[in-house]
Amino acid sequence: MKILGHRGAAGTAPENTLFSFAKGLAYGVDGFEFDVQLSRDGAVVICHDERVDRTSDGVGWVKDFTLKELKALNFGVRFGIQAELPTFEELLELLKGKPLLLNVEIKTGLFDYPGIVDKVIQLLSTYQVLPQSIVSSFEHKTVVEVIQHFPGVQTGLLYASGLINPWDYAQRLGANHLHPHFAFVTPDLVRQSHAQGIGVNTWTVDEPWAMERVVQAGVDVVISNFPERFIR
Ligand code: G3P
Ligand code: CA
Repeated sequence: MKILGHRGAAGTAPENTLFSFAKGLAYGVDGFEFDVQLSRDGAVVICHDERVDRTSDGVGWVKDFTLKELKALNFGVRFGIQAELPTFEELLELLKGKPLLLNVEIKTGLFDYPGIVDKVIQLLSTYQVLPQSIVSSFEHKTVVEVIQHFPGVQTGLLYASGLINPWDYAQRLGANHLHPHFAFVTPDLVRQSHAQGIGVNTWTVDEPWAMERVVQAGVDVVISNFPERFIR
């Protein structure tokens, strides 16, 4: 079972900043989950919310800022430090050559971000990390776009509800992994998914009781804001 840092190591550093990823590396994570969106001028940037308000000193939608404008904001405010919003490329520079599992969540819920799939796959390919990457999304049309245009790229279907036979759904779409919230992880889900060759990667597991639950179920990957609590 692998332990991935969520948005870097978001429990102890400003989420999705290079500080957060550096901290996760220091903790010895097996990899990272992080969120990608597009700036107004088409740069792939690492940010969870569609707005910058919660995590920076700015106000507005990520999609309405140029990269230069996003770079001028402070994404470390909640931790009392100065931190830039990183581009996907900057993150890949930090992580290149390391045997990490990378889970790229494409945030195409509120906005389509046309072209984001091609850009993400191109960058993963340029940095030679495609084989160690899983591209996931709550927007399953985006996952299907990856499956259809980039066969061979590993994909994950994010969800947070009690689906009926999600392993059948994943197989029908051609996705490799299910990414359920931990509340919907059961031993039966893992058993049935594995029987069909589908991995089960769960989030966001921060408490020991939740970790016990998903470990007992036999999941493949656990994503945590506090990976240091579980890495020995
Ligand atoms: O990818 C796992 C998890 O990050 C999905 O939820 O809202 O934290 O992006 P969210
Ligand atoms: Ca995410």
